[in-house]
Amino acid sequence: MTTSPQAGEPGVLGTPLTPGATRVLLLGSGELGKEVAIELQRLGVEVVAVDRYPDAPAMQVAHRWHVVDMLDPVALRAVLEAERPHVVVPEIEAIATQVLADVEATGVRVVPTARATVLTMDREGIRRLAAEELGLPTSPYRFVDDLTGLYAAVAEVGVPCVVKPVMSSSGKGQSVVRAAGDVEAAWEYAQSGGRATAEEGGAVRVIVEGFVEFDSEITLLTVRHAGGTTFCEPVGHVQVDGDYRESWQPAPLPPGTLAEAQRVAATVTEALGGWGLFGVELFVVGDRVLFSEVSPRPHDTGLVTLASQDLSEFALHARAVLGLPAGEVLPLGPAASCAVLAEGTGVPTFSGVDAALAVPTAQVRLFGKPSVAGRRRVAVAVARGADVDEARSRARASAAALAVDLA
Ligand SMILES: Nc1ncnc2c1ncn2[C@@H]1O[C@H](COP(=O)(O)OP(=O)(O)O)[C@@H](O)[C@H]1O
Ligand SMILES: [Mg+2]
Repeated sequence: MTTSPQAGEPGVLGTPLTPGATRVLLLGSGELGKEVAIELQRLGVEVVAVDRYPDAPAMQVAHRWHVVDMLDPVALRAVLEAERPHVVVPEIEAIATQVLADVEATGVRVVPTARATVLTMDREGIRRLAAEELGLPTSPYRFVDDLTGLYAAVAEVGVPCVVKPVMSSSGKGQSVVRAAGDVEAAWEYAQSGGRATAEEGGAVRVIVEGFVEFDSEITLLTVRHAGGTTFCEPVGHVQVDGDYRESWQPAPLPPGTLAEAQRVAATVTEALGGWGLFGVELFVVGDRVLFSEVSPRPHDTGLVTLASQDLSEFALHARAVLGLPAGEVLPLGPAASCAVLAEGTGVPTFSGVDAALAVPTAQVRLFGKPSVAGRRRVAVAVARGADVDEARSRARASAAALAVDLA
């Protein structure tokens, strides 16, 4: 007797909306998840998108969606039980991670692994793993839980230094201490910007890191997949207020420095394990490479790969999480991305899309965010060029041609 191939077996994908479908559930449905959903759709995967609010970008390209507080274990468990996905793909850090561990124990693939999602949602977990267990070079650091401890840690690490909540992203709650007089403000700011808040009682734990006077910072997109580990060319980027504004690829690095960057990325991603694409953030100082942090998922600076490679970081993630080989990545030449931000309150309308697309080689992605409150990234422009400088100026020109009205 022969049995038909089943979703979940190596190299087997079903048909969506049938009993044999391969079901992937995205936890977090922002613009990065939207591109992952599109790549999964191209492979005939049944895509379920989850986020805290309706009509999130990835929901708009999914088969089904659910509005759930992903930090609520009961609500999260209920969605997983209703959807019974083969693969769970976290797009954000703020998730009830115990639920991921439990679902993984039942044989569901959690990307990259439930343990990796726990370690990387907290700066302490990943920093201690990288520096203390793996011996990778990092900035000097201390963890503290109160203002007195912060004064002591700043004295030990020295100024300037950077103070961050251990659980935060996009630069929230993060500030630079240049003198002892800045310490109290840095503490208060970290308390307001972290994810674990006073609601849970007690203070937000913070990390104090020595300020790295880097020559450049890069993201090394690293794919762990059924065929091995693949590195993309390094992505260079500029951050403003802890938020990415521009990125480009390839970021020029001497061969020895590139090899060291790949060694650091391979070491940390191997320790995290599992399948998926990782954004490994590194500081380059002279010929040294310091590990900064890692996202076990596509990285915002990697949006440049929509123009720079035949397989974007999203396509690579989709293949990897499905247990498929990533294949060979073909670089398409120097490329850049430039984020488009909107500030205020309301529903975005984009004008100047024609002008944005009139820039040679430019493409835009309008995320379809249903509304904006505060300062949000709402679109990105990407472009190629003869060199990185030309690509950057094209991406900037295309982004600048887009005007966003909020109404
Ligand atoms: N120790 C440091 N030294 C110098 N710059 C830093 C340091 N830590 C963070 N930064 C700057 O702030 C940005 C955001 O910090 P990061 O630790 O990556 O936080 P997030 O998790 O919010 O992305 C970095 O990309 C870098 O530009
Ligand atoms: Mg970062």
